Amino acid sequence: MIKKAVATSLLAAIGLASPAVQAQELNIYSARHYQTDEALYGNFTKQTGIKINRIEAREDELIERLRNEGANSPADILITVDASRLAKADDLGLFAPVKSAVLEERIPAHLRTDTWIAFSTRARVILFNKDLVKAEQVQNYEDLADPALKGKVCTRSGSHPYNLSLGAALIEHNGAEKTEQWARGLVANFARSPRGGDTDQILAVAAGECGVAIANSYYFARLMNSPRPQDQKAAEAVSFVWPNQKTTGTHINVSGAGMLKYSPNKEAAVKFLEYLASDEAQIYFADGNNEWPAVPTTKVNNPALEKLGSFKVDTLPMTRLSASVAEAQRIFDRAGYR
Ligand SMILES: [Fe+2]
Repeated sequence: MIKKAVATSLLAAIGLASPAVQAQELNIYSARHYQTDEALYGNFTKQTGIKINRIEAREDELIERLRNEGANSPADILITVDASRLAKADDLGLFAPVKSAVLEERIPAHLRTDTWIAFSTRARVILFNKDLVKAEQVQNYEDLADPALKGKVCTRSGSHPYNLSLGAALIEHNGAEKTEQWARGLVANFARSPRGGDTDQILAVAAGECGVAIANSYYFARLMNSPRPQDQKAAEAVSFVWPNQKTTGTHINVSGAGMLKYSPNKEAAVKFLEYLASDEAQIYFADGNNEWPAVPTTKVNNPALEKLGSFKVDTLPMTRLSASVAEAQRIFDRAGYR
């Protein structure tokens, strides 16, 4: 025992650490960064002894970097948001298939693919100003194309992944032809040309510039949970709808992760994905951005999410969503939804 320890320390001293004593590492490329992330990664290292190195950048930059690095990439895991972006990475062949009984047991089937796995969900919801629009006019995504809403609808750009994923869900449920009619009706109802992000649409509804808007749930939850009085005031001025509760359920999207094809630390990578599906990590991961855990039994303690309550989820598999994103883009282009 002693001999081995001495030999090991000698090897380390001359810079020749044997593989057996080399600390395990995991390299993560992440397009997500929230306050709770430090605890998320720190606890993994505490539990497993595996050190995490992180590179954080925008999704497109990370994907470009992975393509350039190719087989020499040090990255083990890619974390990003939106099924369409995860699908893009998958289409480029960046992920390796993962087989894990833990993931299969913890993550519902509609939130998994053979390669990437969703770890939290967000809903695309409808928000309206009750002085300008009646609740019964805006209960479904389809309603937003009703000519009665002319001059009242606001959204961010049609080429943004959030709207493309919603378009893809509508194609899957209603068909391409109806979705194109819907997109044309939506564009005809715009209060203004698409501009800004989802928060800008919510604030414009609060200010009465728009009667109704589509936005991701966490932007609204963020305003509700904000310490700034003007944010809370805006959230209170806006009414909230879970769309399509009597039909398909509300369209959701995800934050997810996958093991990379050229990952040099595949064992550690699978361990990390399984860790993300643990209750503790689910709470950090989801709560960091006011999202819902992908694992249905995990409970978060988030005042805004609690206030919003529960809803019927559209359980369309993420794989079907990503299959129709390109068609959604073509349809939106033809409809002038830019
Ligand atoms: Fe977002």
